[in-house]
Amino acid sequence: MGLQEVRLEDVIPLRHEVLRPGRPIETCYFDGDDARDTRHFAWVEAGRVLSIATVMRQERELSGEHVILQLRGMATAKDVAGQGVGSSFLQALNEELGASWWCNARAVAVRFYERNGLTVVGEPFYIPGIGTHYVMYHKKTAGS
Ligand SMILES: CC(C)(COP(=O)(O)OP(=O)(O)OC[C@H]1O[C@@H](n2cnc3c(N)ncnc32)[C@H](O)[C@@H]1OP(=O)(O)O)[C@@H](O)C(=O)NCCC(=O)NCCS
Repeated sequence: MGLQEVRLEDVIPLRHEVLRPGRPIETCYFDGDDARDTRHFAWVEAGRVLSIATVMRQERELSGEHVILQLRGMATAKDVAGQGVGSSFLQALNEELGASWWCNARAVAVRFYERNGLTVVGEPFYIPGIGTHYVMYHKKTAGS
């Protein structure tokens, strides 16, 4: 139950369904998925993966801080989206990481990330085939 560290193959089905629907399965694999520092996570309830995310080492200067970790490929199963699963998952994941991290957020997910403690840094940019994104940043706080 709850947060689990999982294998790459455990996150691929939801990446496909939610993030690359109708696209070839090859598009669901990211550069760095197999890197030694890369970690795949899931929120699991009753043996079912409800939400997924991957954390990679991808260093970046943000708001004067050297941030090492990037969150990628966050997705919640469509039939349970909007019920708080993603927020519970992200809070638990943030505690597990215990460090600052950043992500490229789709415009539709900006409010979701803001409610979970992230802030937008800089101007929006466009990823071909996927849409407008914002760089967002979660600063390590005392106790997180
Ligand atoms: C964004 C996402 C991971 C949030 O997970 P979740 O379990 O739905 O999260 P919660 O229930 O805690 O919060 C829902 C929030 O996500 C937003 N959201 C984004 N896409 C959504 C979707 N397809 N369905 C429902 N809510 C969605 C809602 O606006 C809602 O924010 P609000 O309460 O401020 O209106 C999930 O909705 C999702 O997989 N969306 C599609 C893929 C995506 O955009 N991933 C992020 C890539 S950066």
